[in-house]
Amino acid sequence: MTFHAVCDLDDVWEGEVTELEVEGHEILIVHQLGGEVIAFQALCPHQDIPLSEGTFEKGVLTCRAHLWQFDSRSGAGINPSDCHLARYPVKVEDNKVLVSVDGIVPVRVGS
Ligand code: FES
Repeated sequence: MTFHAVCDLDDVWEGEVTELEVEGHEILIVHQLGGEVIAFQALCPHQDIPLSEGTFEKGVLTCRAHLWQFDSRSGAGINPSDCHLARYPVKVEDNKVLVSVDGIVPVRVGS
């Protein structure tokens, strides 16, 4: 599995998210309160709106367009519950955030 350095940990503070591109994948980096770093697909599975333009509150990612919501730790859909975000392997080394995109396909349900 190949990991790519995508940003410094200092670039995304705890409780915040940031969006970036890695090897053609739009990635959402979520820095949880408490320090855990998680990477998901950055575009909403509904209609490709950047989730970074929505809100990240109380552990929930909410898309600004039609208010779909996702658990920010698992990527599971909250509303609707039959959807989820693709999750990317991520690790932090020497204050760098590294992400692998190998074999990951973003979810898109369209409408
Ligand atoms: S595009 Fe995100 S909820 Fe519709």
